[in-house]
Amino acid sequence: GRTAVVIPAAGRGVRLGHGAPKALRLLGGTPMLVHAVRAVARARTVSQVVVVAPSDAAAAVRTLLDEHPLPGSAGSTDVTVVPGGATRQESVALGLAALTGDIDVVLVHDAARPLVPVETVEAVAAAVRAGAPAVVPALPVADTVKRIAPGVPPGEPEPVTDTPERALLRAVQTPQGFDRAVLLKAHERAAGAPGEGEGATDDAGLVERLGVPVVLVPGHEEAFKVTRPLDLVLAEAVLARRRA
Ligand code: CTP
Ligand code: MG
Repeated sequence: GRTAVVIPAAGRGVRLGHGAPKALRLLGGTPMLVHAVRAVARARTVSQVVVVAPSDAAAAVRTLLDEHPLPGSAGSTDVTVVPGGATRQESVALGLAALTGDIDVVLVHDAARPLVPVETVEAVAAAVRAGAPAVVPALPVADTVKRIAPGVPPGEPEPVTDTPERALLRAVQTPQGFDRAVLLKAHERAAGAPGEGEGATDDAGLVERLGVPVVLVPGHEEAFKVTRPLDLVLAEAVLARRRA
């Protein structure tokens, strides 16, 4: 079988601000999405990339990717563009529907993590190939994390309910890697379960609900998510350091 990567890129980027879809924001003069596609296509094992574009910009994203062809051997990677949904979960499900027949391992990678090193992509794919049904790159948490009571209005002081032991917490990244059938089943199950609000914030969470084991492998600092304006400052600095 072969390995595909679904890249959810349909978000608005509300926390980053600025109006334009986050995946199209420039990083070192090149759209963040192009960096993300290059980063995963650099992995030898990846034969198909499905980009999930904002639903009103799928044609523009197709044009953009055609204007930025993949270099070298990655040039043989098949890049598909499909329109996304209202939540990340829906967008990933729409991407999964565009996979071709002989794919048996699927990675899901946020367009908002444009600087993930290829070694992280390869390590996740290899762990799935070695038999793990769900593999997630993760790092220890630097900040202490508090849990709060639900339903506190914005602006009100938030009552703390407890403090999970930091040493037992991990911050998870993408690409998250899966046995294709397991990920499909997880998304089918989740789509049938109402009341999930914004949808799941990661795919492994849906697989956990099936009772399928999820394992962590080491993530990478440079796989951080561009979420707020300061993250863009960091991303520019990382890129400048690489080019130096
Ligand atoms: N995503 C998506 N479809 C959505 C929402 C999010 O494909 N309806 C994608 C984003 O494009 C991003 C990834 O999921 O690559 C992670 O989401 P996040 O960082 O939250 O991005 P946004 O949802 O765009 O940002 P925000 O939550 O600040 O609006
Ligand atoms: Mg979001």
